[in-house]
Amino acid sequence: MDSIVIKGNGPLKGQIPIAGAKNACLTLMPATLLSEEPLTLTNAPRLSDIKTMSALLGSLGAEVSSLQDGKVLAMSSHKLDNHVADYEIVRKMRASNLVLGPMLARLGRAVVSLPGGCAIGARPMDLHIEALEALGAEIELKEGYLHAKAPKGLKGAVHELRFASVGATENTVMAATLAKGTTVLKNAAREPEIVDLVQCLRKMGAQIEGEGTSTITIQGVDRLSGATHPVVTDRIELGSYMLAPAIAGGEVELLGGRINLLEAFCEKLDSAGINVSETENGLVVARRADLIHSVDVTTEVYPGFPTDLQAQMMALMCTADGVSVLEEKIFENRFMHAPELIRMGAQIDVQGGVATVTGVKQLKGARVMATDLRASVSLILAGLAAEGETVVSRVYHVDRGYEHVVAKFAGVGAQIERVKE
Ligand code: EPU
Repeated sequence: MDSIVIKGNGPLKGQIPIAGAKNACLTLMPATLLSEEPLTLTNAPRLSDIKTMSALLGSLGAEVSSLQDGKVLAMSSHKLDNHVADYEIVRKMRASNLVLGPMLARLGRAVVSLPGGCAIGARPMDLHIEALEALGAEIELKEGYLHAKAPKGLKGAVHELRFASVGATENTVMAATLAKGTTVLKNAAREPEIVDLVQCLRKMGAQIEGEGTSTITIQGVDRLSGATHPVVTDRIELGSYMLAPAIAGGEVELLGGRINLLEAFCEKLDSAGINVSETENGLVVARRADLIHSVDVTTEVYPGFPTDLQAQMMALMCTADGVSVLEEKIFENRFMHAPELIRMGAQIDVQGGVATVTGVKQLKGARVMATDLRASVSLILAGLAAEGETVVSRVYHVDRGYEHVVAKFAGVGAQIERVKE
């Protein structure tokens, strides 16, 4: 298993290109199941999660070709010959559950393994099930698999999600594109990845309104066509790299970044004393002074502060002046990085969903373990600010969501390398 070794070496300078969004790509890929015609995605990120989704779609009979070094995914689902998403793939990546809605809509049946829990929480699928049942699907749990059928096709309905789940919104919108009649999805999630999905579905001929608001209306059509679509910028990769000059000093330009993808996060950075400004090519980030101010953060659904940046923000708060309170409201167990940061000298007290961080003058390098994707990059960021050497193990987590991570940090002057253990 590989590790990443970081030596804190002061200010960073240069540019970091931001890739297409993992979480957008993982919902755009299953959209291929809705049509017999080809769907091509450009600006795709080169990540292990994308390979996992390619394998899953392949197992269902879709063809997925990775072109231009992985930046283009050419997909075709003209001959789907399997409707079972196997546990062996689904357990590796929860986003696998996003094949449920499209398969049900196109084939009238789908069998999808329940993903089980993961490092950050239980992650049930009740909201997906309730919404698809509202569209007329019959869903039963047998031997760990959801068996879903809609022999006469799905029917449009008015449904309100009990919580604005990203995945349940995506599954329902995809399913409703081929349902008979109109679906009104209330309390829908508003994340930029959902807007991107709807824009792609619209190119495929879907009739959808209201994306980016909490009510999405979908007028079902008989069939969808092919399309070519560029994946939206990865706001979480963007936010993660914005924290590099914030924590280590210097000035870094994030190519392709835009403030409107991350407004709540940018406001917190401003309060912490970090300047963020838009340029022609992206965003420039630099500290206003050596001191980082402590800020309180509560994670919320979009447009609130993203849970996917909470671990990285905690790394910054570890060296801030004063006490900050970080409240995690989306996942029940997303503080696994705290004990690892404590190994680096951080002062963090976790009580349930609330972490209280008292800033220290200097973090110290240590051997630490990545526990999940976002935790892994939070430890790398902490390593940039630490004295001495930090060794982050289990970096397969980072490969799920950050392409060329070592090259991107090294490109702005960080002393970082990947080593085989
Ligand atoms: N939830 C339920 N029932 C459901 C669905 C969700 O109780 O049927 C709960 C979850 O357990 C969780 C909360 O609702 O506590 C939020 O879940 P949501 O469905 O919104 O998230 P998701 O679709 O499973 C996506 C991202 C996550 C990101 C969340 C929140 C993808 C592939 N994943 O997950 O990304 O944290 O939205 O923004 O889009 C990551 O990239 O590191 C990551 C975990």
